[in-house]
Amino acid sequence: MQHVQEYLAKNKDRFIEELIELLKIPSISADSAFSQDVIDTAEAIKSALERAGCDTVEICETNGYPIVYGEKIIDSNLPTVLVYGHYDVQPPDPMDLWNSPPFEPEIRKTETHPEGAIYARGACDDKGQMYMHVKAFEFMVKTQQLPCNVKFMIEGEEEVGSKNLGDFVALNKEKLANDVILISDTGMIANDIPSITTGLRGLSYVEVEVTGPNRDLHSGLYGGAVANPNNILAKMIASLHDENNHITIPGFYDKVEELSKDERNQMAEAPFSLERYKKALDINDVHGEEGYLTNERNAIRPTLDVNGMWGGYTGEGAKTVIPSKAFAKISMRLVPNQDWQEITELFQQHFESIAPKSVTVKVKPHHGGQGYVTPIDTVAYQAASKAYETTFGKIPIPQRSGGSIPIVSLFERELESKTILMGFGLDSDAIHSPNEHFGIWNYLKGIETIPYFYQYFTQLS
Ligand code: BES
Ligand code: MN
Ligand code: MN
Repeated sequence: MQHVQEYLAKNKDRFIEELIELLKIPSISADSAFSQDVIDTAEAIKSALERAGCDTVEICETNGYPIVYGEKIIDSNLPTVLVYGHYDVQPPDPMDLWNSPPFEPEIRKTETHPEGAIYARGACDDKGQMYMHVKAFEFMVKTQQLPCNVKFMIEGEEEVGSKNLGDFVALNKEKLANDVILISDTGMIANDIPSITTGLRGLSYVEVEVTGPNRDLHSGLYGGAVANPNNILAKMIASLHDENNHITIPGFYDKVEELSKDERNQMAEAPFSLERYKKALDINDVHGEEGYLTNERNAIRPTLDVNGMWGGYTGEGAKTVIPSKAFAKISMRLVPNQDWQEITELFQQHFESIAPKSVTVKVKPHHGGQGYVTPIDTVAYQAASKAYETTFGKIPIPQRSGGSIPIVSLFERELESKTILMGFGLDSDAIHSPNEHFGIWNYLKGIETIPYFYQYFTQLS
C-alpha cells in the first residue's frame, strides 16, 4: 500500500471533522423520540459512502430503521469484502455523569490516549469504528489501490437487537454475496498489544414481572401478611446463582463448550494484570464463577446478570408501600453451542417454577442471538494478522470477547462466510457508559491498517 501514511497526514483533520459531524446526530435506536435523527444518520452515511467512492448506494427500508447499502464492484473475478457496521447508538443516560454533552463531541487528552480522544456517544461503538472503513475505502479508491470488490451494509438497529437485519440478509443473499465479512465493532487488548477478536458471546435477554396483591398496599397495615413482590423478586434472583457463582437453572450448562487445558493455557498467556483491572474499576476484588480466571469468566463462560430492577416507590423521600408489582431486566451471555432460544425457554420454565404461590410471574423474552467463534487457520485471519503486523509491528493475539454481535452467526448461516473482527477500541473507552470515547490514534490506526487487510486478503485468496 503506497502513501497510506502520507494520505493520513494530509487528511486526518478532515477525517476527524467528518466523524465529529456524524457524532452530533443522536441516533438512539432505543428511544422513539429520536427516530428522525436515526433516519438522518442513515442519510449522512449514504452521502459519506457516495463521496468516498461507492458506485451505488441505497437506503434500504425495513420494518424498522433503514439499512444503508453501498458497493464498488471492480471485477467479478476478484474477491469481495462485505463490511458491516452500525450507525445507531445506545441511550446516553445517566446524563449528569457526562463531563461534556454526549452529542457535542469534544477532544480531550488522557493517560491512555495522549494524542487525544473524541468524547461522544457512539465515538467507539460504532460510528468511529464503522467510519474507519469508509475512510480506508476512500483512501484506496482515491489512490487507485482498491484491490478487490467492496460492499457496505450499515444498519441502524444493532443496539436494539438487529430485529430486521435477519430478514434483509435472507432476502438479499445474492446482493450480499461475499468472500469475507469485515467488522470493526469490538476492541483490542491495548494500543501496544494488538489483538484480533476471535469469538463473541451469544445473548438471551428477558424481562420478568412479579405480581402480588392487585394494588399497592400500606406496608404497615398489610406488611408481614402479604407477599411483597420486591422481596420475592430479590430472593428469586439471588437463587439463580449458587455459592460458587454457578447458574442454577437446570440444563443451563448442558451444551457449554468446555475448552481444553491447552486452549486455556494459551488464553492465560495474553497479557493481563488483575491489579490494574481492579484499580481501573475501583473495586477491591473481582467476582465470578469458581474455578475460572477473570479472562475466562468474561469470555468463554456464560453469565446471568440483572441489568435493571424496579418496583414500588423510588422517588424522593420515603413512602410506606408494598408494591403490587416488581420487575427486572435480565441478560444471559452465552457461549458457542448454547442455543439462545433453548436457554430462554429453560430460564422461563425455571423462573416460573421457583415462584411461591403468593405471587404470579411473567417472563417476556426480548431478543437474543448465538455466540460465534472464528477459526484462525483461514486466509482471512492470516490477512488480518499480517495487516496488524505491518502497521503495529507486532503479531496480534487472537482473543475471545465477552460482548455480543448476534447477527454474526446469522451471517455465517445465511451467507456462508466467516467474519473477521478487527476492533480498534479499548475496554476503557466506556462504550454504553457515560463519557464514551475513541482514541484519535486508534481511529487513524484503524484507517491505516484496514487497506492492508484488503491487499493481503486479495493476494492470499
Ligand atoms: N459493539 C458491541 C459489542 C461488542 C463490544 C463486542 C466490544 C465485543 C467487544 C455491540 O454494539 C453491542 O453493544 N452489543 C450488545 C448486544 C446487542 C444485541 C444489543 C451487547 O453486547 O450487549
Ligand atoms: Mn457495536
Ligand atoms: Mn453497543
